[in-house]
Amino acid sequence: MPRIHNKRNDSGDGTERTKWFMRDRFGMFIHWGLYSIPARGEWVRSTEKIPDEAYQPFFEEFNPVRFDPRQWARIARLAGQKYAVLTAKHHDGFCLFDSKLTDYTAANTPAKRDLVGEYVEAFRAEGLKVGLYYSLLDWHHADYPVDQYHPLRDVESAKSGKREFGRYVDYLHGQVKEILTNYGKIDILWLDFSYDKMSGEVWRTTDLLETIRTLQPHIIMDNRLVAGHCDLRSGLRVGDFATPEQIVPERGIVDGKGNAIPWESCITLNDHWGYANADHNYKSAQEVVRTLVECVSKNGNLLLNVGPNSRGEIPEESVRILERVGSWMRVNSAGICGCGAASLPKPEWGRYTQCGNVLYAHILEKPAGPVALRGLSGRIGKARLLADGSEIRIEQPWNATDCKEDAFFNPPGNQLPDSLDTVVAFELKA
Ligand code: GLC
Repeated sequence: MPRIHNKRNDSGDGTERTKWFMRDRFGMFIHWGLYSIPARGEWVRSTEKIPDEAYQPFFEEFNPVRFDPRQWARIARLAGQKYAVLTAKHHDGFCLFDSKLTDYTAANTPAKRDLVGEYVEAFRAEGLKVGLYYSLLDWHHADYPVDQYHPLRDVESAKSGKREFGRYVDYLHGQVKEILTNYGKIDILWLDFSYDKMSGEVWRTTDLLETIRTLQPHIIMDNRLVAGHCDLRSGLRVGDFATPEQIVPERGIVDGKGNAIPWESCITLNDHWGYANADHNYKSAQEVVRTLVECVSKNGNLLLNVGPNSRGEIPEESVRILERVGSWMRVNSAGICGCGAASLPKPEWGRYTQCGNVLYAHILEKPAGPVALRGLSGRIGKARLLADGSEIRIEQPWNATDCKEDAFFNPPGNQLPDSLDTVVAFELKA
């Protein structure tokens, strides 16, 4: 495979471009398309080997009468999310955006509109950064190979039919140009995904990256133009950030020299990305907050998914969880946004995040006695409960007189006031 020219930014390291991303930490992933009608997840065409004729009725029917992107954006903002990524096209090939290169778009369904345009405008108006996801796979395009994931993989005539992959790659490049030309500034591009031989220069990646950078020089890109995007220990071969899926890496992700690189775990709220009406295995708000804290404590982001239904609404259960997460974020976001890993080992009772000289202790489990800050004796200035700003007193407890290097405190009333995550902010002395 020829070497991919992975120009990360003008100065070569991508840090300038990813600054906002590393600060914002929390985003909303939105998987939405025709598959919201069968309501068994976005892979339904593949898993159930659905032929074109049987999938077509969903196209003819798609009419999200309650689609209100301003409401989506509000839900995201109130949850404390700072950016969003919407599936402009998923593997089924259906486009939520209007395209000159295909008729297989929302504008030609009863929806009769460019849903990407409305999303971009609404999220921007709400002060969020906007991202688009575009699938490299395409089970609708006549030139996409009938491989192991393709819905027609068992259909002899489809397998033996002539397919011109080059034409598909032209189409892919053309559509990426469209989504990066027609909607103003796009902050994130998520191309998904590469596998086996379908990786790297197969997509004419060097060219594609050049086009992307020319159209939107500031845009940040995922790493999925090359297979291996779920590798948790080997830095980036392409793009600006790594994309572990449904997992938080053990220690964050570093490059070959051991330097931390930007990464973002993408995680579903239940067990599906696309709407699945029988899947009620939702994570609790506590799990979500703790996963977010874990990501930030390892220098990463969380991209949390919702799958709106065919009427255009984010499922009620998801909204409830996001609201609860939002009430925690409203008073605790200082311990998330702008923060990263602390230069201290993970404490017994929870996790640390840090921003400049402020150390945030996320207390997830109440110890039997006072909470110990190992090695921080004499290093702590002001200490405050983040949620209400009340004083936390540093003490040297009678029952730990031999722990001279450690600082200790008791949470107010000897309880953890917030069962999701009680956060204490400590000013560290130089
Ligand atoms: C995978 C799946 C896909 C989902 C994505 C999210 O690549 O194919 O359905 O969109 O991951 O990360």
